Amino acid sequence: MGHAYVGAVSQRTERFDADYYRRFYGRSGVHDARRIAQLAAGVTSLAAWWRIPVRSVLDVGAGPGFWRTWLAGSMPKVRYHGIDVSEHACRTHGHELADLATWWPRRRYDLVVCQSVLQYLDDRACARAIDALAEACRGLLVLEVPTVADRDGVIDPDGTDLDVHWRTGAWYRRRLAGGFTEIGGGLWLSRRCPAPFFELERAR
Ligand SMILES: C[S@@+](CC[C@H](N)C(=O)[O-])C[C@H]1O[C@@H](n2cnc3c(N)ncnc32)[C@H](O)[C@@H]1O
Repeated sequence: MGHAYVGAVSQRTERFDADYYRRFYGRSGVHDARRIAQLAAGVTSLAAWWRIPVRSVLDVGAGPGFWRTWLAGSMPKVRYHGIDVSEHACRTHGHELADLATWWPRRRYDLVVCQSVLQYLDDRACARAIDALAEACRGLLVLEVPTVADRDGVIDPDGTDLDVHWRTGAWYRRRLAGGFTEIGGGLWLSRRCPAPFFELERAR
């Protein structure tokens, strides 16, 4: 059992090597610094509008660490913590090596970012990871995960890793509802966040 677990972790780590990032972060890749700068500026402005303080950010499956770069330049006082299962990403970008399938937070963060990661976890690990995200978050969650509907109608198959776990939006929403209220635009509000929202500012 112990050996199987170690094997599973190193398999994950090996999958996300330098080649993986070269392949999916090319010209039409997953994200780039400019696009994440647009998102980060928008999310932190909305947080300020809703009077949700952003003093700490957790980036889960942080990969190239575009949020780290943007925060260092635009909000240098914010404490950033990145975690990733990839030894390559951790070595190159300074994240903590951790597997979201088994990781549990030791503290809470104002803003949690989880972009393009949950699809790599099987159902059981993913459900547990969503609980861990809820435990880690006391403000906003930025969540991006491709669903079955995205695969069939939105995703560019040439620039996307299709060898992942495909689930429905309903599957994710059911599990996220325990810890978060859906705002829309990929933003989720922690149920422990006291910021008051008008009814029509939220999706549900
Ligand atoms: C498509 S990249 C996304 C990186 C970054 N979040 C972004 O949006 O550019 C997927 C990342 O998830 C990480 N990842 C995959 N499975 C993971 C796991 N079980 N625990 C932690 N990180 C994981 C990979 O190492 C990789 O860096």
